[in-house]
This record gives sequence, C-alpha cells and structure tokens, in this order.
Amino acid sequence: MTKRWMFALLSVCFWIPAIANAQPSRDTPRGELLYSTYCIACHSEQIHWRDKKIAKDWASLKAQVSHWQEVAGLAWSDDDVVVVARYLNVLHYHYPEHVQ
Ligand code: HEC
Repeated sequence: MTKRWMFALLSVCFWIPAIANAQPSRDTPRGELLYSTYCIACHSEQIHWRDKKIAKDWASLKAQVSHWQEVAGLAWSDDDVVVVARYLNVLHYHYPEHVQ
C-alpha cells in the first residue's frame, strides 16, 4: 500500500512539469527559444541596451523583430514575431504593449 502511494506521488511529480512544458501558454519561453536560436548569434544582447535605440516603442520593436527575421530568412508568423518582441520587451525595453 505504501509503495503504491509512493509511486503515485512520484508519477505526479514527474507528470506535472511535463504538462507544464507541453503547453505553450506563456509567451516568453517560446520567444526566448526563438531568439536564442536564430538571433543571438549575430548580436549580443548589449545591442538592446544602447542609447541610440532603433526600437523606440512597442510598434517599432515589433517592426525590428519582423525585419530581422526576414533578413535571416526565417519566414516567421506574426505570432512568432510578437512572442520574440515580447521577450525582448520584458527583458530590455519595457514599452507599453497596448498598441498592436
Ligand atoms: C545578420 C546579423 C543579424 C541577425 C541574424 C539578427 N540581427 Fe538584429 N540587428 C543586427 C544589427 C547589425 C543591428 C543594429 C542595426 C543598426 O544599428 O542599424 C540589429 C538590431 C536589432 C534590433 C534593434 C535594436 C535597437 O537598437 O533597439 C532588434 C530589435 C533586433 N536586431 C532583433 C533581432 C531579432 C529578433 C533577430 C532574429 C530574428 C535578429 N535581430 C537577427 C544584426 C542582426
């Protein structure tokens, strides 16, 4: 009985993180994954801290992400562009996101 109980408890422990990982409900991890896979090689993250930013607000940040994925030949969907822009925004820019 105790062993069964332990087993049940253990499987729940492994099961919950598996489900959490399987659901892309939070945007940032996917944006982070895309960015670190396709974008980081070309510029270090310092580029997003410089004074003379090209990305001046949420709209131009999205435009930059869209531009650079095109340059890299990635053919991202709008969703991909948004999740990566959001990732960079959370990390560096902190622009209000209401203007789509
Ligand atoms: C071919 C190399 C290269 C690749 C690949 C690349 N970038 Fe860049 N990125 C640059 C350079 C160079 C600049 C600075 C351009 C300037 O100063 O005129 C820049 C600037 C930016 C900026 C604006 C930074 C600011 O000033 O606010 C953003 C945002 C950005 N890149 C996002 C991305 C994303 C997202 C990807 C992946 C899809 C990506 N980049 C891939 C080279 C690259």
